Amino acid sequence: MRQKYSDTLERIRAAVERHDHGIRAMEAVVRLLKQDLPDYNWIGFYLLDGNELVLGPFIGRPSPHTRIPLGRGICGAAAAEKTTIVVDDVDADPRYLACSVETRAEIVVPIMQNGDVLGEIDVDSDRPAAFGAEDRELLEAVAALIAPKLRTHLLS
Ligand code: SME
Repeated sequence: MRQKYSDTLERIRAAVERHDHGIRAMEAVVRLLKQDLPDYNWIGFYLLDGNELVLGPFIGRPSPHTRIPLGRGICGAAAAEKTTIVVDDVDADPRYLACSVETRAEIVVPIMQNGDVLGEIDVDSDRPAAFGAEDRELLEAVAALIAPKLRTHLLS
């Protein structure tokens, strides 16, 4: 992982350790990602509530998708399949639920604990194919850091 990414990860690690409250920790994460990574135009957390993903802390244009059923959209697919999904061209992916007409690429990383999905990190970019191996590695590391903070939660 390049220095820039490892520096961001260390900043996020420190911020997550400082915040015991899950919402505060997620707010810090979206702020730091936005500050460090210019291609990350929309950054948000979704939290699993029954069979729906509910929008949590985010930075970027308001999304109409505040509740997404499991299996719908890129977000619902990543949670249902329990795997990271990277989409280089959202217009070419029939699963895609549009949040902004500017968006070209998306990455969704599930937040897991003991095999269960707790939620996910969703990032959109206005640049086509904006997300590579390092973005995936960074965001999967962030998901692992934040997972313990989401156990004692949250939606209230
Ligand atoms: N694009 C997502 C929906 C969420 S918005 O991008 C914030 C999807 O296809 O699931």
